[in-house]
Parts: sequence; C-alpha cells; structure tokens
Amino acid sequence: MCGIVGYVGPRDCSDVLVSALTKLEYRGYDYAGIAVFENGKIEVAKSKGRLSDLVAKMEKEGKPKGHAGIGHTRWATHGEPSDVNSHPHSGRRVTIVHNGIIENYKDIKKFLIENDRTEFLSDTDTEVVAQLLDFYYDGNPIRCIRKVLHEIRGSFALGIVFADRPETVYAVRCESPLIVGQGPGEAFIASDVPAIIKYTKDYYLLEYGEIAVLKNGSVSFCDFHGRMVEKELKTADFDEDSAEKGGFEHFMIKEIHEQPTAVKTTITPRIEDGLPNLSECGITKETLKSFNNIFIVACGTAMHAGMVGKYVIEKLARVSVTVDIASEFRYRDPLLNTDDLVIIISQSGETADSKAVLNLVKEKGAKTLAIVNVKGSSIAREADMVIYTHAGPEIAVASTKAYMVQLSVMYLLAFEMAFAKGKITEEKCRRLTSELQKTPEVIEKAIGLSYNCQYISTKLITADSLLYIGRGLDYALSMEGSLKLKEISYIHSESYAAGELKHGTISLITEGMPVIAVATQTSLLEKTISNIKEVKARGAMTIVICDDEAEFDDEVADHIIRIPKISEMLMPMVATVPMQLLAYYTSVNKGNDVDKPRNLAKSVTVE
Ligand code: F6R
Repeated sequence: MCGIVGYVGPRDCSDVLVSALTKLEYRGYDYAGIAVFENGKIEVAKSKGRLSDLVAKMEKEGKPKGHAGIGHTRWATHGEPSDVNSHPHSGRRVTIVHNGIIENYKDIKKFLIENDRTEFLSDTDTEVVAQLLDFYYDGNPIRCIRKVLHEIRGSFALGIVFADRPETVYAVRCESPLIVGQGPGEAFIASDVPAIIKYTKDYYLLEYGEIAVLKNGSVSFCDFHGRMVEKELKTADFDEDSAEKGGFEHFMIKEIHEQPTAVKTTITPRIEDGLPNLSECGITKETLKSFNNIFIVACGTAMHAGMVGKYVIEKLARVSVTVDIASEFRYRDPLLNTDDLVIIISQSGETADSKAVLNLVKEKGAKTLAIVNVKGSSIAREADMVIYTHAGPEIAVASTKAYMVQLSVMYLLAFEMAFAKGKITEEKCRRLTSELQKTPEVIEKAIGLSYNCQYISTKLITADSLLYIGRGLDYALSMEGSLKLKEISYIHSESYAAGELKHGTISLITEGMPVIAVATQTSLLEKTISNIKEVKARGAMTIVICDDEAEFDDEVADHIIRIPKISEMLMPMVATVPMQLLAYYTSVNKGNDVDKPRNLAKSVTVE
C-alpha cells in the first residue's frame, strides 16, 4: 500500500528519491516524504497529497542536499492524510519510512509512554517504531534493529537512517516486499524494481527476516539473528521504457495497447508442438489428472479472471471449480482435502488476503498453484507450483494487461487439464490451442475500436449509475467490465447475470439509464437479446458488445460495439478490450486521474 525508496551514492539523493518515488506512486498517493543526510544531519521534507505537492513544496522551501537518504509514498492507513502523518517519522536519533502495518503498535506506544517517551506527533504506527528504535539505540544500529524486530508484530518493510551513522541506510524486510539495487559505486532500496530501473537493472531480493546495510555504495546483508547472509544478484528482464508511458497519455492506455504482446509472451513458451505444456512451471499431466476439486481464490480483477477460468475448466475438464474472494475464503473455514488444488491468482503476488489464503491452504495440506505477474513475489515463492504471467510491470492502478494474461493462463490450464483427464481429444486440444495463439492478433484489432468506444463513453459521463449484464462467460466478463468502469470513472455500476434481472434489479431501470450488455456467446445470444429488450422497454439506453457476425434486431441497441469473432469460448479475451476502453475514455472525459483513481492503491498489502 505504499512505496519505500532509499539511496546511497554520488548522485543528488533528493533527485534520485523523487524519481524513484514517481515510479512507486501507483502504490499509494495520500502523502510523500524524504529524509536526506545534509552535512551529516538528517533533513526531512514531507507533505500530504501527491508527490507533485512535495516537489512543489521543496521548490519553494528548498530540498535537502546530500548523497544518502530514504523516501516514501503512502496510502493512508493510520490517521487522515496530513503533513504530520506523512512519512518519514523520527525519534530523537532515528528516522524511518515504513510499508505495511504494525499490529501491536498500541501496546508498544503504551510501553514507551510508561517509560517517559511521550513525544508522539502523529497518529501513525510508524512513529511508534521510530520511537522504539530510538529507545533501544545504544550506538549499534544492527543490535537495535534486531531488538525492535523481536518486539514488533505485523507485515512490514522499513528503511532506516541513524543520525550518528551518516551516509548509511538500513533496510528491513518482514513480509512486505523490498529489493536492494546495486549500481557501480551506488546502492538503492525500493519496494519494486521499476523504481530504480533507470539507474540499475541489478538487484537483490530481500527475503523475509533479512536486514540490508547500504554504505559507501556497497551492500551487506544479515538475518534477524545478526548472521551474515550471501545473496544472489538478479537482473531485471525489462528496461526503463517498459516502466515509462512511452508516448501514451496514461499508463492505462499504454498497458491496454501492450496486451497482444503480453499474451504472446505469456503463452508462447508454454506451447510445444501445438499443445499446451506447463511442465516448466512444475505442472505435469499426472498432477493435473489428480485433482478432484479446484478452488480459485483471489481479489478484485484477479478474482474475475478466476470466474472465466471456472466456466472454461468446468466446461472442458469437467472438474468442479469454486471461485472465492480471498478475504471471505480465509475466514469461512473452507472444506479442503489433500487432493484439491487451490489456485491463487495475483498480479502483485503480495496481496495480503491472497497471501493469507495460501498459508491457510498449505496448513490444510491441499496443493497450491500461484498465477502471478511479479517475479519473486511472496505468493510466487511460497506456492507449490507457479505460472508466471509475462505482462511486464503494470503501473496503472486499474488492471488491464495483467487480467488479460491471467485469462490466457486460465485457458492454457483448462486445455491441458481437459486433455490430461481425457475429456477432450488431442485434435480438439490442438484446435483450441491454435485459436488461443491467434488471440493477440484479434486483441490488436479490438484495440482498433478505440474511436467507437471513445464516442460511446461520452454518453456515459452524465450517468449516476449503470448496469453491465451478460450470460455465461459474458456474465463473468461483465463483472470485470463493471469494476473497471466504477473504479476509474466513479460512476456506480453493477454487473448482473442477464437472466436474474427480472428477479428484482430491473426495478432500478429508469429513463436513459445505461445498460451495457455483453453478448458474445452465440449459443446464448437469443436469450441475452430478450433481456436487452426487457430493459430497453423500460427506458434503458442500451449498449451492446457483440461479435461482428451476430445477427439480431439492431433496434434493441442504442449503440453497438462489434468486435472481431473468434471461437465462442475465447471471446472474453476480445470483449475485454472495449470494456477497458469504455472505462478509460469515460474516466478521461470526466477529467479523472485515470492512473491513480481516488482512495485506491495498486498493491493491497493490508487486510
Ligand atoms: C482492479 C485491481 C484490483 C486488483 C486486486 C488484486 O483494477 O487491480 O482489483 O486486481 O487488488 O490485486 P493482485 O492481483 O495484485 O492480487
């Protein structure tokens, strides 16, 4: 829910911290701040609001000048967004930035107050940790950090500077992700690789329970017991361009355009001789045959990809699939057996609820498969098997390309499982796989419909509320269309199974209310059209998304978006595109901050 950065090296530290934070702002944008050693003293600059507010403040009041420091951008968790609650937070001799939650901060605060430490300025859990570090500090930073780590509970990562250790940055990881970048004569910390890719592609992945010390441009590591740790230097497989807007106005539209390549990069290495082959992900045919029940658990958009997965796996492989929201699944004492498979889908691989589900499922002995985009993320590392999606960094808060590649993996998995279980013939498996290989081209064509979607979005901007409807796979898909629209346009939107409308929801329809009907399933077209007629008759403004061969009475639709046709089962990968474009252009037309919608953050590492 927030981004941490740190730097030690010859460059202007404030500039490096701000530049790195710009790439992490998608993680939270309620406030930002930096702390830099200037002439041996820690100088702090911080502000509520966007990073641009902090930059404006520093332009007016002057920025800290130095070569070592830490920085932070945050989604508010404790106390309202305000200058005082902004990170960094300080004790007398210690200043820190923090990602995550300290669960027992109230107990620690009580302990500190009982010991005459009463100078708390903010409402945050972070300040309590800064004060505790200061309380225990005896001139040995590592000893002090270790002592504090044994007392605080929660999921967190910290960047720390001690006033009497100039030009040195300490970093700690406990759950929340943190990487340590290494360039010639300089070192960085960051919550995510794109933040530092401009400076270096080489990085160490800090593991749970490790501490890094950045000094004189080099890095050393130890564990929470103080034992030195040797780590492997990794190299990022993307460059600065992929973390930039590349000429597009927003990351979201850039990422929509990246979808054909992302799908190609995700599926191509997993297709061999015309058939899906997930063995490089540790998934054999034998394994796929062995599961009796499948659970797909995820949050938000990732859960919606799971809904499409359910339809496809059940239809082809004839295995029962239950899709669940991670925050519900973890508390409902699910019935799990050791021959069940639990699939966790997550772009970030760090979502708190999804991670908790993984731990729960492992305790119960069921097998776990992670479908994750961010390499080396917690969920990816802890699951029994992992299929990485290759979408590249997704920066816009509203997920687009990550969803698309999650869909592509759902199909590959369904095809291979169905074949392994003998539910489809080799010939059918080949045919389906070959169709999937054609999707990048068709998605490209669908992106070409931008103009039509841009026009139709002008009809949505005045709406207070709208409905997305569909049947079968179109219903699964409409859930994502509805989420995308509401999260960035701020128009209230619900998705409904088209056949369910008349059981209550149809009473919401008033004159001119937009209803977007997804009608790409030829076998269900007639039924969906009947439902469209029902809402049209009650005054709805109907927008129909269908394939370019669908035949029906055009009068039922006020607006039609015709997309290229491929096999019915794969239509979600094409129909997703106009839904993304409708959401994008509605948000743009309303003048909203498309990439950073209000109240949201990209990586939800708190419950
Ligand atoms: C919506 C969106 C969220 C995420 C959800 C899960 O556009 O991005 O709904 O899908 O927070 O995040 P991950 O996939 O990182 O677990």
